[in-house]
Amino acid sequence: MSGTCVIGLQWGDEAKGKLVDLLAPRFDWVVRYQGGANAGHTVVAGDETYKLHHIPSGILHSDVQNVITPGVVINPTTMLQEIDGLQARGIDVFENLKVSERAHLVMPWHMIEDATINATAVRGESIGTTNRGIGPCYRDKVGRTHAIRMIDLIEGSRDERISTVATQKQALLKNLGASQEELDSIAPEKMVALAASWAERLAPMIADTTDMVLDAAEANQKMLFEGAQGALLDIDHGTYPFVTSSNSSGVGVCAGAGVPPKWINQVLGVCKAYSTRVGGGPFPSELEDETGEKIRKLGNEFGTTTGRPRRCGWFDAVAVRYTARLSGVTRLALMMMDVLAHFDELKVCVAYELDGKEIHRVPAHAEQLRRCKPIYETIQGWNTPVDDARSVDDFPPLAMAYVKRIEELVGIPVGVLSVGPDRAQTIFTEESKAMNL
Ligand code: GDP
Ligand code: IMO
Ligand code: MG
Repeated sequence: MSGTCVIGLQWGDEAKGKLVDLLAPRFDWVVRYQGGANAGHTVVAGDETYKLHHIPSGILHSDVQNVITPGVVINPTTMLQEIDGLQARGIDVFENLKVSERAHLVMPWHMIEDATINATAVRGESIGTTNRGIGPCYRDKVGRTHAIRMIDLIEGSRDERISTVATQKQALLKNLGASQEELDSIAPEKMVALAASWAERLAPMIADTTDMVLDAAEANQKMLFEGAQGALLDIDHGTYPFVTSSNSSGVGVCAGAGVPPKWINQVLGVCKAYSTRVGGGPFPSELEDETGEKIRKLGNEFGTTTGRPRRCGWFDAVAVRYTARLSGVTRLALMMMDVLAHFDELKVCVAYELDGKEIHRVPAHAEQLRRCKPIYETIQGWNTPVDDARSVDDFPPLAMAYVKRIEELVGIPVGVLSVGPDRAQTIFTEESKAMNL
């Protein structure tokens, strides 16, 4: 088989959803393999805009099989709402989606725990999570004793299991300072009834996706793996502790999806032509001035999941070179080129200055990264709209010079350029041919 991955190389929201939707018809399968409803992937199809949180971004294409594999954490209540919303718009999700029996469930107590501890400062700053219960659910997965998986909804003594964990969680959350109202909301009998209602609706979708994916790979089918978040938010390799709780860089694909590395042939590394970040944590090339405000406005940089304004800054080539190497990126997709089309001068961060020394890597400690001062290279802006560009020949030479410089600094050729949210506003360069998409 050939497996292609779409991986965000920054702090999320690089427009992975747009690319996955666009590429999906060339594949047999679209696979979501990590993260959960913290993701917000936007797909624009003609006049319709879809904001997907759990559901893979291939769902608009009825002949593509969509799967959610073991590495994803699922909140069944919000996933069912999302499915109902899509069904109401004529998309037959029930027909076209399978969910792993091994995937873990984000339970109502995880949401309370996330909200209760999210305000806590870690190293002087709150992580600023999406409040979707992601960290607490992954914590329970790794801890094992309090975890509930999809399979637990339909196999074994479900009611007893849910009731026992709910009772334990009430005691734990009481100690964490949860209110009486919150504790009542997760009463064992309520949780048992909720799980029964989920089981009834989700049972037809629950499957052994690992077996399905392996069968498909061995039958030489084409798979597109849809990353969520971005590599700088990777739990092991990102800007810890200001990260998410899964492996969101390219290294997470095999573990989350249940595929051996030999099936992965291509990795499309997605990045914006500038940088954004939502939530807390160091961001060396952040622009807390009117230039940052201008990027936010032109790029409509507000969170898809939480609506929070995204922090904006210049392209950070040190960070993207790191995440592209880590993720095994074979081609870059450079998005939002239309947003940078309104500046006389652009900057790209080419190195950091840390304690008086120039460095070219992303330091491990948040305090070190916070002390890093960006060393910029100034590049002349093209200052001409490119929204209508449909081939590289339509790009002003100065815009192509910017693209070439990013390629040099990151060390990977650009295969895709994006000039707007619409499917048509996408250019595949000569370099994309090598990917055999
Ligand atoms: P994801 O989480 O990586 O899928 O990205 P999001 O959907 O959270 O955020 C990307 C946003 O940018 C969405 O609103 C897209 O519709 C929009 N978008 C995608 N590509 C482009 C582009 O090239 N230019 C502009 N201006 N917007 C884009
Ligand atoms: P997509 O898939 C941008 C950020 C949160 C917070 C940190 C931890 O749309 O690119 P979490 O709720 O995961 O515990 O929050 O990670 N974050 C994202 N930022 N895009 C995302 O997903 C994100 N998912 C999580 O803002 O800083
Ligand atoms: Mg997003």
